[in-house]
Amino acid sequence: QPQAFIFDLDGVITDTAEFHYLAWKQVGEELGISVDRELNEQLKGVSRLESLERILSASPHPLSLSDAEKEQWATRKNNHYRELIEAIRPSDILPGITELLEEIQASKLRIALGSASRNATFVLDKLGLTEAFEYIVDPGRIAFGKPHPETFLNAADALGVPYAACIGVEDSEAGIEAINQAGMFSVGVGAPAFLHEADYLVPDTSRLKLEEIRKAYSDQGT
Ligand code: BG6
Ligand code: MG
Repeated sequence: QPQAFIFDLDGVITDTAEFHYLAWKQVGEELGISVDRELNEQLKGVSRLESLERILSASPHPLSLSDAEKEQWATRKNNHYRELIEAIRPSDILPGITELLEEIQASKLRIALGSASRNATFVLDKLGLTEAFEYIVDPGRIAFGKPHPETFLNAADALGVPYAACIGVEDSEAGIEAINQAGMFSVGVGAPAFLHEADYLVPDTSRLKLEEIRKAYSDQGT
């Protein structure tokens, strides 16, 4: 039986994945690097500085930035992003998520947040969802970001739940890999082109139903 859910935030609980994309796109334009949706899939779930590194690697012209300059560009992106998330409201919770969280709580399963974002608590607060999460991973205390499993292991350890009894929910390729590497059951939200490694996949959040997920979890390996 599963005992806990560990949710990603951006692109799962609310559509901030789109805001991260728009903010990086703007920074890309400023740097002369085109950030398209395909490159963006490689940025999802990945830390701020690592995202910048991936964008710089996609540059058509050689760019060598010092660490201090990289910090400045990353901060610039975050400033764009902060403007975009300022207006987030509870009505921005993605379809089906409120119901799913309620179903999970009613079933006495535990709920944690495993986001790479340093803005996660701000966004959760804007959504009015802080109370729903028993534990929130602090990305400042994570040495290895997704696709490394540390984020998810940290959440399970904090809850005191065995890894195999955890279900991770993610919209990113890096996140699904992290959940799988953690030995947890992975639920993907999005397109099979990027999320085919997920143990269970739905096209969008409105299709996340606790009973279906539990069934897929029990059917593992059969
Ligand atoms: C993840 C997002 O949740 O958080 C990434 O999917 C983002 O796009 C990462 O880079 C870090 O977020 P932040 O808000 O600390 O820059
Ligand atoms: Mg995400």
